[in-house]
Amino acid sequence: MLVSDLEGCPALLHTIGQMHPAEIFEHRDIADADLKSADLVLVDLADASDSDLAGVRDAIAGAPTVLSIGLVRAGNRRDKVQADALGLGRIWSRTRPVKDALREIDLQFGSYAQPDLPASTPQQTARSVQAMSAALGECATAVVSETLLPLAQVARAVDDTLDAFRLDGMDAWISAVQMHHSHTYCHSMLVTGYALAFADVLGLSESERALLGAAALLHDVGKVYIPLSILDKPAKLTEEEFEIIRQHPIRSREILEAQPHVSQAVIDIAVHHHEYLDGSGYPDGLKGDEISRAVRMLTICDIYAALIEKRAYKPAYSPRQAYGVLVDLGKKIDQPLLKSFRSVAFEVDKAASVKRKASAFG
Ligand SMILES: [Fe+2]
Ligand SMILES: [Fe+2]
Repeated sequence: MLVSDLEGCPALLHTIGQMHPAEIFEHRDIADADLKSADLVLVDLADASDSDLAGVRDAIAGAPTVLSIGLVRAGNRRDKVQADALGLGRIWSRTRPVKDALREIDLQFGSYAQPDLPASTPQQTARSVQAMSAALGECATAVVSETLLPLAQVARAVDDTLDAFRLDGMDAWISAVQMHHSHTYCHSMLVTGYALAFADVLGLSESERALLGAAALLHDVGKVYIPLSILDKPAKLTEEEFEIIRQHPIRSREILEAQPHVSQAVIDIAVHHHEYLDGSGYPDGLKGDEISRAVRMLTICDIYAALIEKRAYKPAYSPRQAYGVLVDLGKKIDQPLLKSFRSVAFEVDKAASVKRKASAFG
């Protein structure tokens, strides 16, 4: 998707840019954009000069199969005439409600939140991964449209996952989650899956497990404010991009503290999962006892999940390699707690290797 823009880019375009991997171009730079690889071009028509729009017209004419929509000011005849002259398929009001526009884009192109799961995915696993993806998508929409987070939907998605673990096994669930096209969605779901399994191993109560599951699903919610073109970038991040990503716990704090029904425990987990016991973490440089057990658990799940994920710039670590990295972090993380995580990490490893051997003979 691609968005064309002027100086006074309307909020709607910025929001769509946050929810989809979009690029925003000035009108005069549209010639540099590869429109053929875009699904949708949104052209802001307010105050665009004739010479700038001539370039846009040529670019759109060169990509006739791409859906293009003009954003017009309500009641402004010039904007509508320009949209016709550019041959734009449709027009939207620049002040169209964000939720509305996002829903229409989902209907047209399929939801960005939803993974493309193979038909062989076990039923309950598919249901769980779809429910969790939908909950994450709705959370992102709620944040950008400044409405209430769908906490009941998050809780149901967490519950569904426990059913999937029981019926299909965690290994099937991990494989299905890794089919998601977005690293960001995949990561939040993996962390949640490991957090739930970890809670189980530690014998946490049902309510503690539910809280940890919800917190895990929301742990990187502040990333909603980071463009997906950075989060899902299929290459190594630049120093500046990495610095932008490091801001996400602070953004999570802003988002969650503005929500009336999110507990302090969930906020603590989301804000502090990048803290280290020796004080070298961020954003608050907490130390030792200042970091709660739940946060320490999530930190282990977060690092482990990030390591076993495959990225364009790094291969997926095996469970053994990922566990080794956590051991090497020494006093930064809670090593006794990490020992309890061993069975979570290696249960999946064992199940996967049994399956690999079975298919080698099958
Ligand atoms: Fe994070
Ligand atoms: Fe994370």
